Amino acid sequence: MEHDLHPVSPEFASNTLVTETQYQEQYARSLSDPEGFWSEQAKKYLHWFEDWEKVLSGGFDSLDVHWFSGGKLNVSFNCLDRHLATRAEQPAIIWEGDDPKDSKVINYRELHEQVCKFANVLKHYGVRKGDRVSIYLPMIPEAAIAMLACTRIGAVHSVVFGGFSSEALKTRIQDADCQIVITANEGIRGSKIVPLKHNVDTALKECPNVRNVIVVKRTQNQVAWNSSRDVWYHDAMSQIKTECAPAIMDAEDPLFILYTSGSTGKPKGILHGTAGYLLYAAMTHKLVFDYHDKEIYWCTADVGWITGHSYCVYGPLANGATTLLFEGVPTYPTASRFWEVIDKHKVNIFYTAPTAIRALRREGDDWVKRTSRKSLRVLGTVGEPINPEAWEWYYHIVGEARCPIADTWWQTETGGIMISALPGATPLKPGAAAWPFFGIVPMIIDDEGKPVPDGKMGKLVITQPWPGMLQTVYQNPERFVNAYFKEFPGRYLTGDQAYRDADGYYWISGRSDDVLKISGHRIGTQEVESALIRHQAVSEAAVVAIPDPIKGQSIYAFVTLKVGFHSNDDLKKELVQTVRESIGAIAIPEHIQFTEGMPKTRSGKIMRRLLRKIANNDLTDLGDLTTLADPGVVDEIIRDREIK
Ligand code: WT7
Repeated sequence: MEHDLHPVSPEFASNTLVTETQYQEQYARSLSDPEGFWSEQAKKYLHWFEDWEKVLSGGFDSLDVHWFSGGKLNVSFNCLDRHLATRAEQPAIIWEGDDPKDSKVINYRELHEQVCKFANVLKHYGVRKGDRVSIYLPMIPEAAIAMLACTRIGAVHSVVFGGFSSEALKTRIQDADCQIVITANEGIRGSKIVPLKHNVDTALKECPNVRNVIVVKRTQNQVAWNSSRDVWYHDAMSQIKTECAPAIMDAEDPLFILYTSGSTGKPKGILHGTAGYLLYAAMTHKLVFDYHDKEIYWCTADVGWITGHSYCVYGPLANGATTLLFEGVPTYPTASRFWEVIDKHKVNIFYTAPTAIRALRREGDDWVKRTSRKSLRVLGTVGEPINPEAWEWYYHIVGEARCPIADTWWQTETGGIMISALPGATPLKPGAAAWPFFGIVPMIIDDEGKPVPDGKMGKLVITQPWPGMLQTVYQNPERFVNAYFKEFPGRYLTGDQAYRDADGYYWISGRSDDVLKISGHRIGTQEVESALIRHQAVSEAAVVAIPDPIKGQSIYAFVTLKVGFHSNDDLKKELVQTVRESIGAIAIPEHIQFTEGMPKTRSGKIMRRLLRKIANNDLTDLGDLTTLADPGVVDEIIRDREIK
């Protein structure tokens, strides 16, 4: 199937924030004069209590990057207080509950008040500047309120996705040494109950430093209660004052930690700072989504992920936008839900993930066509490559060929969108992430670090610092260097494979490391392997990805049992349960194959490349098997493979 270039419609281009020529000019300027460029943007997008002394210092060679040193500001002030004079009554958050009958609107005045009050609650429970606070909440307004309240007093939040297990929550609370946890008694997604408080109780058995748990009452169901530790959110809020002066923060003070998976070890605590992050989130939100004042903007991500941080909360609120938070799932009560919500709240800009688009496409066009969607103007996608078929469906069926699609490539570490079309400026190519954002210098290199010619696939690196970049890995500067700068010194290694075409469009094909993308969720193969090995029957485990038509990828696990244990379906169920308990449902293997042994090199390394081919039923070109320690095991693994 040929996929045409979709030129920018003149009608759209007549009213866009950036035209194609302006993009070219400003992009060139952002590279030739980065300090001048970012200084102007920082004045335009943010309110500063005190100006910075230096826009940018240091670089990737010495790894001592500093943005806006000496500047003073507060994130909640930028997201709330400064809008009060002009938009106090404008909706800041439109909340759409899991049940279609459940929704509410919170305007800027109300949000400001709630945030100030909750900031005082945090102070009351002993939270001080620099302290870490764990947030384990469903998609309810209190999630945004809790995040902003932390920023008000300079506390560092660590949001943990509500789909993670108590075990995953525990390791994150411990790693960041959080002393306060904010949760809900229960969450509701697709009418199913999520036992959040129960998970917190389990996690806290091994987190002695947690003093208090603040609990939002989302459902009427009872939960276990420890009255010396647990506090109801509504009780705490009912008896607290409304005034709370914003903490004066340094530009480089830590803002939040967010854990994400790498190819080795436990998830890394990605640390983002204050000014650079907020500027980058705000500017990309405005320009990539072509956000016009008063528009209704909806990003379907959960606040447990970076997309939820940058594009549900910080970017939109910094810009004084109306952001829609959705508690539910795309298919509940029906596969029309997204489109019904768009009509109900007159959404203009809609940002979601390819996995959701593919899942809804499979349900048939009728679910879309029975809705109007005439408010829609811009569409976005994020999280994994979007296949051209899904792109075309999104473009033609959802957007009726009227709405440009921003296919936004970025990462937890990058803080904001790095490569994307700008609506109205970029002629679209289905499946291409398109052009670098201002100030971003991508490069495609080979394994030796040499730039490859256009059209050739290679490793995607970024060669210059940008304001949204991570500061470090929390309390692990060595891991920061090793993960991102060691293989190719002086360049930020993204872990993705990509090529650039002759028109300068970047096409991202997926990870080049041992990181999986399951329904857009980032999971390290080693994490799943470690989870499997926790089961007493398991001797060794090797995890690889196989393609999945809806999820993008799914997990195929090879498992060797200890002597005396026998493979059967019950054991498979137990292994699935083990993964569910140590990570969460998002990491459950689709296939588990028991084997007598693993193909290993003579030095003892499992040959994952070979296992990947077998799992994918690709038996061509298996390579030279004579170098294996035990070549015989390969025949058995091939014979017993689950996909034939
Ligand atoms: C990885 C980062 C940052 C947003 C949510 C994911 C993949 C992300 C795209 C895209 C192709 C993409 C990459 C990247 N990815 N967006 N538009 N096209 N791949 O954040 O969990 O940190 O994952 O997601 O592989 O490295 P994340």
